[in-house]
Amino acid sequence: MTRQSASSIDAPPALPPVALPSPEGAGTEGPGTGLGVGLRGPTRWHDCRATVCPMRRSSTARRLGHSWLLVLPLWCGVVLPVMGRQVSVAFAQPGAASTEQPEKPAPLGPLPATVPTPAGNDTTPARVELGRLLFFDKRLSGNNTQSCATCHDPQQGWTEAVARTKGSTGEKLPRNTPTVLNSGFLASLFWDGRAQSLEEQALGPLTAPDEMNQDLAELERELAAVAGYRTRFQQAYGTAPTRESIARALAAFQRTLVTGRAPFDRFLAGETVALSEGARRGYELFIGEAGCARCHAGPLLSDGKFHRLGVSFRDVGRGRVTGRAEDRARFRTPSLRNVAQTAPYMHNGSLKTLTDVVTFYYRGIPPVTPDNLPLDIRPRGSQSFSEVTDLVEFLESLTGPPPEIAVPELPE
Ligand code: HEC
Ligand code: HEC
Repeated sequence: MTRQSASSIDAPPALPPVALPSPEGAGTEGPGTGLGVGLRGPTRWHDCRATVCPMRRSSTARRLGHSWLLVLPLWCGVVLPVMGRQVSVAFAQPGAASTEQPEKPAPLGPLPATVPTPAGNDTTPARVELGRLLFFDKRLSGNNTQSCATCHDPQQGWTEAVARTKGSTGEKLPRNTPTVLNSGFLASLFWDGRAQSLEEQALGPLTAPDEMNQDLAELERELAAVAGYRTRFQQAYGTAPTRESIARALAAFQRTLVTGRAPFDRFLAGETVALSEGARRGYELFIGEAGCARCHAGPLLSDGKFHRLGVSFRDVGRGRVTGRAEDRARFRTPSLRNVAQTAPYMHNGSLKTLTDVVTFYYRGIPPVTPDNLPLDIRPRGSQSFSEVTDLVEFLESLTGPPPEIAVPELPE
């Protein structure tokens, strides 16, 4: 594997060209150096007749010596740093090459020890327990047929193994269900980032006509009629069931859905054998030549930003949220933690397996786009089968043990 980050998508910005003095240039007008100084031959730059001149004895020494005196500062000031840069690119961790990017991706690393909480909704045991009950309670949907866990099923990686699931009214949803594992770490929620917090997010699926199709006032009444909920809402938030406290409790519960250490975390901590050889090669590719870590970086392996890969152009994606044409068909980089458990993939669930996803990056990026929309990525040129399997093995090493959450007995 070459590590010079040959991939055009993350090639470092070009350095200004440096023209070195040609030997023929000695004694005549030399080429420009790119430093605004014309290099000239020694006789024009320096008068050798001075007795202190160490070069004056031989004419060859005089010619060569003086040109080197002039070239030396150039050599130290320009050539060595340029060489050093190439050497450091060649020997650094492959990801280091992308530090030349204008936007430096965060290094891959373990999940933070604590999940950030917004003011006013500290994660207390009473809130988490209430949120767990609500998450599994089908009474939350308008026709009492769906709970959050219907689509975010703990047995299926807290998502559902279908491309596009159906809402409580039987209608297919436009997008693939993401896992809620580690969702407490996300800076924005949904494929298009339209919610900024889990609190804000929770009321979305509850009220969406094609999802749980619930009337919030009715839900408040329904839950207030359940004695077990009345006391729990009092304990957790000091109120009767309100839409705000429902959303907060669901958020508090979801903040506890953090995955444990994956083999990849152990590898990063120094346990080399935690990854198979293939996964290690995959990791090198991921942070190096294959350019994945340009977007899949940080503890979640996501930059939290929005990119257009050309998976599909049917969905406006981020464009609807910002109202900007340039964000059309852009989607949030998904976290890759536990990704092996959350097939199928992409915002529309169109890719069935991790092999399909990695192959997409090699061959599936479309050459033409509607209205010539520029893509935020270019296909990997080569089509090496072993690279695909190595990358898939690496992705599989990102699976950490999910939290063990028992399906609760619901209050009556
Ligand atoms: C009918 C299936 C369905 C149900 C029921 C459902 N969800 Fe979702 N959930 C989805 C889909 C689909 C998305 C992605 C929608 C989008 O991005 O536009 C999603 C997105 C999310 C996200 C954002 C994850 C991310 O990576 O950004 C969270 C958190 C979430 N749901 C929590 C919940 C909670 C809490 C409930 C119960 C109140 C719930 N969901 C009920 C299907 C469902
Ligand atoms: C330009 C940013 C960018 C780069 C580079 C990139 N990805 Fe992605 N990745 C994304 C975005 C955005 C999505 C979601 C696209 C969509 O749904 O339309 C995604 C989706 C994925 C998914 C599916 C996750 C899921 O839950 O559906 C996997 C797996 C993945 N990428 C792996 C990789 C690998 C491996 C590489 C390197 C070969 C890579 N990515 C390079 C931005 C990027």
